[in-house]
Amino acid sequence: MDHPYLIALLFSIVGYGWYLQRDLAEDIFKRPREAYGEAFAAHGPVIGVRRKGNLEYIVNHEYARYVLTCDRLFSFERGSAAIMNLQPLMAFTEGALFRDLQDFVRDGIVNRIDEIVERIWPLFQRDTKEFIQMSIAGAKDGKHPNCHDHYHNTIAETTLILLLGQDYVNDHNLATIEDVSNCMAELTGQYQNFSLVGRYLPYLWILYTWVKVILIRIPLGFFRTFGPQVWRDIDQYERLMSEAERSGGASLLKMRFPKSVLYLITKTYYRANGGKSIGWARRVYIAVLLLCLIFAAVHTTTVVSQWVLCQLATRPEYLEPLRQELSEVLEEDDTGALRLTARSLRHARLMDSFIREVMRLKGDTIAAMRYTTCDVPLGDVVIPKGSFVTVLATTVHENPDVFGDAPRDFNGFQWADSGKEAVMTGPAHIVFGLGRFACPGRVLAVNEIKLIVMSLIARATPSLLEGKFEVADPLNTVTQPPKGTLVFSPIGKTFLQ
Ligand code: HEM
Repeated sequence: MDHPYLIALLFSIVGYGWYLQRDLAEDIFKRPREAYGEAFAAHGPVIGVRRKGNLEYIVNHEYARYVLTCDRLFSFERGSAAIMNLQPLMAFTEGALFRDLQDFVRDGIVNRIDEIVERIWPLFQRDTKEFIQMSIAGAKDGKHPNCHDHYHNTIAETTLILLLGQDYVNDHNLATIEDVSNCMAELTGQYQNFSLVGRYLPYLWILYTWVKVILIRIPLGFFRTFGPQVWRDIDQYERLMSEAERSGGASLLKMRFPKSVLYLITKTYYRANGGKSIGWARRVYIAVLLLCLIFAAVHTTTVVSQWVLCQLATRPEYLEPLRQELSEVLEEDDTGALRLTARSLRHARLMDSFIREVMRLKGDTIAAMRYTTCDVPLGDVVIPKGSFVTVLATTVHENPDVFGDAPRDFNGFQWADSGKEAVMTGPAHIVFGLGRFACPGRVLAVNEIKLIVMSLIARATPSLLEGKFEVADPLNTVTQPPKGTLVFSPIGKTFLQ
């Protein structure tokens, strides 16, 4: 070889380029707010960034509302399906999946929230008492219970009851729910940022995860455990409905109809089918809907509750007013025992505000995804049809035009008298997304978070073993809890028994 040094030089240049590019990519995963922020400063409010094998167009607060609400140009359904690696499911359901999810959550959960809180309150009481006992034991032997895992179980049980009914509650089914929500988290890329293969060989990672989750773990776990029982329940609900139709209006009043979301789904499809039995393909689809709901409901809610508790642990000055409010909103049940009801939770304005502020500042980056339905001019750029478009949420939640010169300062009670509740989305608050497809389960989620936090601070004071918490995955604060060991010291005079 005449000029080996030339080849060495070429390799060095390519290597250096790869190194620089890798550094940029690393920045997106390790310090996304800063990395994307610098790109906005250099290139304007619309930037294109390659991540996990996709070219994503990211916009800042200036175009947030437009991108998230203009469904005609930016499709929520296609964007969400693609970013969560769920395109085959969308194809199978002919695009109806997300609309159906939204309808069933609204009709089966949100519209019944008062009776649901009454139904689930005892679970939070039971599990919080148990957790405090475990914390007391942990303080002695140094084995502190894991707050996230404990309440993940509570939320899993709540979800099982709401979706399928009390008969489904047993240890095996609960373990399956846990496994399913973990599987779905894996499938939808929640742990992808932690894996080098996930970051740099995304297609291989997606293929591997699909085979593992869809072909092995979901059929062997979810379908085997719940499939036969769900099938039998659909049959039973169909019989109940046909009986109700035969017996006419008067006897309808005497009949007891199940309250589960599964019953609502069965009723909807049974009627749409003209009163004929629901076929097997539709039944598989029902199982898919349940699977998606389990995933959407369990992980995110538990994670946000941990963010709230960690923030509270580092800001003890908020405890006294929150406990004062708690004592004012508690209600008595028939036996005179104090409890939290949906009305108590609605009146807990300070707690609501604290939760909203934690959600605003926990550092969400890329959560709500859209997909262009045609070439869309945006700023100085034309975004081609079939592109991912998303909003960098930090630019919205930390916008100085809205939040002043110190937008990252935590002001826990700033929303209490503003009329802006934790569940309210808006152009300056996109934790639950925005527009027609904003999270339909947010009312349940905020109620559950309040139940966890209020039932804990009624009995104990949270602190962090390490004195602080860390952000586990800066690019994903939606389904990754903060890193830190929450410990709880019981208070002398408790607010709840
Ligand atoms: C704190 C907890 C939660 C957070 C932070 C959260 C966040 C989100 C976000 C950001 C979206 C996308 C919205 C958009 O792109 O505009 C979404 C969608 C969705 N969420 Fe939630 N969510 C939570 C809890 C729940 C719960 C408890 C349920 C069910 C009971 C649920 C059900 C759904 C469903 C079904 C969708 C798809 C939207 C649709 O079909 O229209 N979520 N959520």
